[in-house]
Amino acid sequence: MFIGNVEIKGKTALAPMAGVADMAFRELCVNYGASYVVSEMVSSKGVSYDSYKSKELMNLSDKERPAGVQLFGSDPDTMAKASVIAMEYSPDIIDINMGCPAPKITSSGCGSALMKNPDLCGKIVEAVKKTVNIPVTVKIRKGWDNNTVTAVEVAKICESAGADAITIHGRTRQQQYTPNTVDWDIIKAVKNSVKIPVIANGDITTPQIASDIIEYTNCDMIMIGRGALGNPWIFYQINSWLEYGRDSFVPTKSEKIKVMLNHAKKICDYKGENIGMREARKHIAWYLKGFRGAASLRNESSRLETFEQLIELCKKIDISE
Ligand SMILES: Cc1cc2nc3c(=O)[nH]c(=O)nc-3n(C[C@H](O)[C@H](O)[C@H](O)COP(=O)(O)O)c2cc1C
Repeated sequence: MFIGNVEIKGKTALAPMAGVADMAFRELCVNYGASYVVSEMVSSKGVSYDSYKSKELMNLSDKERPAGVQLFGSDPDTMAKASVIAMEYSPDIIDINMGCPAPKITSSGCGSALMKNPDLCGKIVEAVKKTVNIPVTVKIRKGWDNNTVTAVEVAKICESAGADAITIHGRTRQQQYTPNTVDWDIIKAVKNSVKIPVIANGDITTPQIASDIIEYTNCDMIMIGRGALGNPWIFYQINSWLEYGRDSFVPTKSEKIKVMLNHAKKICDYKGENIGMREARKHIAWYLKGFRGAASLRNESSRLETFEQLIELCKKIDISE
């Protein structure tokens, strides 16, 4: 399928996840079959004020294509300015965050607060679209709360403003991430209301769910976030289910450990061992889920300072099936 003029060879995308889906993780997921990835969200204000920290998040490698840079902000001019700067990092797509529920984002009218203001959503898309010559997409939620279910309206306005695709997480801002189930009907309603591709998101954690949501909503792609944590091979499993109707790959414990080590090594290579190991800890805890003695292993992993210490920890892990 195509988003604008960008070809996406497959149906599974990795969700943008601040503090988690960095270059190391995105590359790993692409290795396992993710057909599209998006950067962690980047502040349009930060970028336009030349913040190194914000700009660093926009680095994309050749091993993770096609890839989008995701910007958040509520001022169309600042978003347009940030998009110009984002272009220096050669993204294939610019994605606009209209779904983040965090109070520090919504309090300034950004992220999911935009779902309360469909006209502003359109103005932002229009401003960014006018500025860049690559596809522009939006990532929305069902709405702000149950009294403000605006997904269909926002989707239509964004399409008219020039958006090239829409990702929808089928929960309102009030519903955050859990425990309410994702509303597949709102995803279907968005799909039926626009002509551009629609990407379904929320709680897609197994090949069966992936296949069911595609069938139910007729969405063009699916986007996977938490289901990939400590589990990057989910893309391979879903792809193989969608293509051949079966799940052909279940990693052994020793394979999981190998991938965990490679992942941690990659983070250290990209960020230096000091920051890298600190950031790797949460991933290590996710990989260790389901292992015998996982609680104490996770406890130990939360104190890891060096890659060498991780290798030592791995020697204690029971990998018998
Ligand atoms: C740790 C974390 C960080 C996230 N950061 C972002 C982000 O930067 N931009 C964004 O649009 N969504 C972000 N999200 C939301 C996800 O992209 C996704 O919409 C949500 O987790 C639902 O999908 P899932 O059930 O597959 O995880 C984040 C989610 C998590 C768990």
